[in-house]
Amino acid sequence: MTEIYNFSAGPAVLPKEVLQKAADELLNYNGSGMSVMEMSHRSADFKNIIDSAESNLRQIMGIPENYKVLFLQGGASLQFAMIPLNLMNKNKKADYVHTGQWSKKAIAEAKKFGDVNIVASSEGDNYTNIPKLDPAIFSEDADYFYIVSNNTIYGTTYNDLPDTGNVPLVADMSSNILSEPIDVSKFGVIFAGAQKNIGPAGVTIVIIREDLVGNAVDNIPTMLNYKTHADAGSMFNTPPCYSIYMAGLVFAWIKQKGGLAQVKKINEVKANMLYDYLDNSKLFSSPVQKENRSLMNIPFVTGNEEIDAKFIKEASARGLKTLKGHRTVGGMRASIYNAMPIEGVKALVEFMKEFEKEVGNA
Ligand SMILES: Cc1ncc(COP(=O)(O)O)c(C=O)c1O
Repeated sequence: MTEIYNFSAGPAVLPKEVLQKAADELLNYNGSGMSVMEMSHRSADFKNIIDSAESNLRQIMGIPENYKVLFLQGGASLQFAMIPLNLMNKNKKADYVHTGQWSKKAIAEAKKFGDVNIVASSEGDNYTNIPKLDPAIFSEDADYFYIVSNNTIYGTTYNDLPDTGNVPLVADMSSNILSEPIDVSKFGVIFAGAQKNIGPAGVTIVIIREDLVGNAVDNIPTMLNYKTHADAGSMFNTPPCYSIYMAGLVFAWIKQKGGLAQVKKINEVKANMLYDYLDNSKLFSSPVQKENRSLMNIPFVTGNEEIDAKFIKEASARGLKTLKGHRTVGGMRASIYNAMPIEGVKALVEFMKEFEKEVGNA
């Protein structure tokens, strides 16, 4: 098979070594004669898989003791409802920063359960930046403060986290979790769908400070209550076993690569390579404000839809796959998650240079 590079925003590229290990163990995990897919979630082998996945995640992210790690289902989208159902419990109000489609969906869901105060929005700038935040207008009595830490569709990310004082900061980290070290203690809740930097779709990781568990609204469905899953060690019902197994392999891979500090260095090399080229190109450009540029998702445009379509088609023929921008914004987008090798970004930039020459000479 010829080498391809997959720039999909998610489900996305996974480390080759991880896929190879999963293939080696597919039919017979640890001498059990069974696949992980066939195994009871109550078995000793699976208990070991989930325990070591959690322990490795705690180690690489430096998750403090007073935080629970939950392996849930329903995708990041279910968290849009679980967050208000579990946290909007005192004053029934929350602050949200609106930075794109994922915050829009989260805001719409939260509005069903209480008052939502939009403290800032980048909608007027087509979400090409993270809006300036003025702490003077944050609600002191909000039950939580909500951000999307990396906006997958627009390629924006926070330079500085908002200082929310005693109000718990909640972050949808679906597209930049594990891309660099973070201080977990600054957050009340972090959640992320798996299908970018964690593993295959099917598991959603929630990291939640213990004091925020157990205060859900009355009549909350059992499965939507964080306490249900925290008390049962994510085993209240059958968890997404295979996705957890794969996530565990990815956590072990990150550890073996030297942890998140090392991962960040490589991510910066990759992203800078592409941004440097974009900033010097006469054909392509980045629509995103410099200080808010994501390390993970890099949209770019030529300003001409026909040229964009030609580029995407020719890139695909060269093995540079899934470069089409989100259907709502057009242009191109290269998602360069942890598992994208430096060679993939080099190949992309080389092709962009060639294409620029070709179009310039046409
Ligand atoms: C930032 C962000 N939040 C939420 C979602 C929705 O995730 P899911 O499909 O797991 O519900 C996505 C999906 O791409 C995303 O990028």
